Amino acid sequence: MLLEKLCLLTLTLGLVKSEYKYETKYFTVPLDHFGFQRTETFQLKYLVNEDFWDRGSGPIFFYTGNEGQIEVFAQHTGFMWEAAQEFNAKIVFAEHRYYGSSMPFGNVSLDNKHIGYLTSSQALADYADLLDYLQDHAVTPKYPVIAFGGSYGGMLAAYIRQKYPHLVAGAIAASAPVHMFPGMTPCDAYYRIVTASFKNDGSKHCVDNIRSSWSAIREFASNATNAEWLRKKWNLCDPLKNSSDVQQLLDFLQSSYETLAMVNYPFASDFLVPLPAYPVRVVCQYLNQTLNGTKLMEGIGKVLDTFTNYNKKTKCADYKKGSDYGNLDASGWDYQACTEMVMPMCTYGDQDMFEPHAWNFTEYSDECFKKFNVRPLPDIARVNYGGDRLQAASNIVFSNGLKDPWAGGGVFNTINESVETMLIIDAAHHLDLMPSSPADPSTVKMAREFHKQRIRRWIQKFRK
Ligand SMILES: *[C@@H]1O[C@H](CO)[C@@H](O)[C@H](O)[C@H]1NC(C)=O
Ligand SMILES: *[C@@H]1O[C@H](CO)[C@@H](O)[C@H](O)[C@H]1NC(C)=O
Ligand SMILES: *[C@@H]1O[C@H](CO)[C@@H](O)[C@H](O)[C@H]1NC(C)=O
Ligand SMILES: *[C@@H]1O[C@H](CO)[C@@H](O)[C@H](O)[C@H]1NC(C)=O
Ligand SMILES: *[C@@H]1O[C@H](CO)[C@@H](O)[C@H](O)[C@H]1NC(C)=O
Ligand SMILES: *[C@@H]1O[C@H](CO)[C@@H](O)[C@H](O)[C@H]1NC(C)=O
Ligand SMILES: *[C@@H]1O[C@H](CO)[C@@H](O)[C@H](O)[C@H]1NC(C)=O
Repeated sequence: MLLEKLCLLTLTLGLVKSEYKYETKYFTVPLDHFGFQRTETFQLKYLVNEDFWDRGSGPIFFYTGNEGQIEVFAQHTGFMWEAAQEFNAKIVFAEHRYYGSSMPFGNVSLDNKHIGYLTSSQALADYADLLDYLQDHAVTPKYPVIAFGGSYGGMLAAYIRQKYPHLVAGAIAASAPVHMFPGMTPCDAYYRIVTASFKNDGSKHCVDNIRSSWSAIREFASNATNAEWLRKKWNLCDPLKNSSDVQQLLDFLQSSYETLAMVNYPFASDFLVPLPAYPVRVVCQYLNQTLNGTKLMEGIGKVLDTFTNYNKKTKCADYKKGSDYGNLDASGWDYQACTEMVMPMCTYGDQDMFEPHAWNFTEYSDECFKKFNVRPLPDIARVNYGGDRLQAASNIVFSNGLKDPWAGGGVFNTINESVETMLIIDAAHHLDLMPSSPADPSTVKMAREFHKQRIRRWIQKFRK
């Protein structure tokens, strides 16, 4: 169940649709950057646009791709496209290995036998090789490179600046939960923020109703007549035959609330699922007074309907599909969560509106072993990437929207004068990287100006 949650560390990009143009290219990278015995190579996809580029010495804006096909990020990271015009930058979006079409072993890449070369370190080394190539292998690189990324891509943007400062002049790391690792963040932080969003943008009633709904639904659905009523009334694709079906439905509801909080944007969006502007506010309308019994079931049913069928095109609510949304590759991310990206999550039921569920690493590890025949290393990300000891790093902006559940694992203290944090009070998941919209709150506009100021500074420093 927790693994499912982690799939949601997604790039919820793409809320304002724009059509950006680019050329699709491929670059040969080694399967294994860290040993000499596996000599296979494969094609890494990347997208390029040079329309605004000052070929003399203009910067390269480089998106460190995350867990999905790269076109999705290219189409939805509007901030990079808008800023590129101002900075006369070349735009490059690099696809992360094992996602999209950058598959080392074709359609069997995700098999247990082949998936082992899916690590963040290998991906960063791919990007480093690509950058060296984009600089014509010059001993003294000509073009300042600025890394950008949101969510896991934001982590990679920060990490590539930390690990390869000679290749990257600075990094905008948006909504990057680099502190979401064991011992660094309370395990309930994420769910407390989900709950706070429902309280602040919805109401206390909304939170109380959701909190009481878990046992209410379980009890209600245990009666076959009621279970059938739910199937019809909630338009479920599958009937609720037993308690494990009901659990799946509850898990689906929980992940719906998480997604609603993440994509609680000021404009209508259709990335993960089509949703109205400020979706949390919209769904909480249905739960705005204390409800019980059938009334509570009707209210939750309307929330579910908004989440699954806002565009009125969905046949039924497919609660058994889990949190596997179209643009993301859930199996690849599941594997990463089962190896390096161990992010403890838990609920207590008091500061959050969910049923209590403790973080249990043994249970988590056993599930990983069953799925992938591997066991996660809980400390490896901290050891590889520095945890919160980033004093020796420089030229990174960590931005976090305070409405974003992933902000729970974000960096909030300015580490030193050049590793800075940017808090965006009104923003959900990496809203600052999206195309500008008339609905943007002023805090997001300010954050984008801040990013541009820092980018300008890093470029000047590079040229000196
Ligand atoms: C994988 O690709 C190979 C060759 O391209 C093809 O023969 C095979 O049917 C594919 N397998 C699956 C499961 O798609
Ligand atoms: C199930 O609920 C229906 C209607 O709410 C009720 O008439 C029936 O007695 C209940 N069945 C059981 C076994 O409790
Ligand atoms: C519960 O019912 C579903 C079908 O609705 C079935 O696939 C599943 O095996 C059942 N689980 C248990 C534990 O009986
Ligand atoms: C709840 O929302 C409905 C629909 O928007 C509205 O008519 C009603 O007045 C609200 N009730 C409360 C108690 O806010
Ligand atoms: C629902 O709440 C009302 C008052 O708000 C109460 O009278 C009623 O007994 C409650 N029903 C259940 C099933 O708890
Ligand atoms: C954690 O999970 C393991 C394996 O499922 C179980 O044996 C253990 O009792 C659990 N620990 C706690 C504290 O619940
Ligand atoms: C911040 O880090 C940079 C790079 O290591 C270093 O040059 C600078 O002195 C640091 N600043 C502070 C205030 O520690």
